[in-house]
Amino acid sequence: MTVSTQDRSALIPLLQQVQVEMGYVPREAIDEIGAVLRVSTSDIFGVLTFYAQFRLTPVGRHQVKICQGTACHVQGAPLITDAVEEELGLDDDHDTTEDGEFTLEKVACFGACSLAPVMIIDEDTKGNITPDKARRMVRKLIKAQAKKNAAAKTNAEAKNE
Ligand code: FES
Repeated sequence: MTVSTQDRSALIPLLQQVQVEMGYVPREAIDEIGAVLRVSTSDIFGVLTFYAQFRLTPVGRHQVKICQGTACHVQGAPLITDAVEEELGLDDDHDTTEDGEFTLEKVACFGACSLAPVMIIDEDTKGNITPDKARRMVRKLIKAQAKKNAAAKTNAEAKNE
């Protein structure tokens, strides 16, 4: 069965709503929406993979976005991307670290081409990035998060005593 125009018009807003609420579209939601709209899960997967806005896996606590637009590309975005992937232990098939702390997104033009190459860490835009700068920023972020996690663990242990 293929998704009709009518099904699709109901399907996409539902998927968008789930994505907004959860940051991604989990398998359970796909099954539930499929049952309600009487659309097969494979058709829903087809829609989800067609539109780049949808994620099928949870997004990390921290998001690192690297612009892949033309201005950033010619200024070295691919090398920056490689450096960040290496620091986070990610590759083309894995955009989120196993611990769920960090997600790397490769994004089209941020509209800040005069700052190319551009990287955004959470809400903080950084321009004129080099692979070394990117590595330093990512290491700093990893260290800061590890410190927060350690403090949270210590607090939890203190509460349990
Ligand atoms: S191409 Fe990277 S900000 Fe425009």
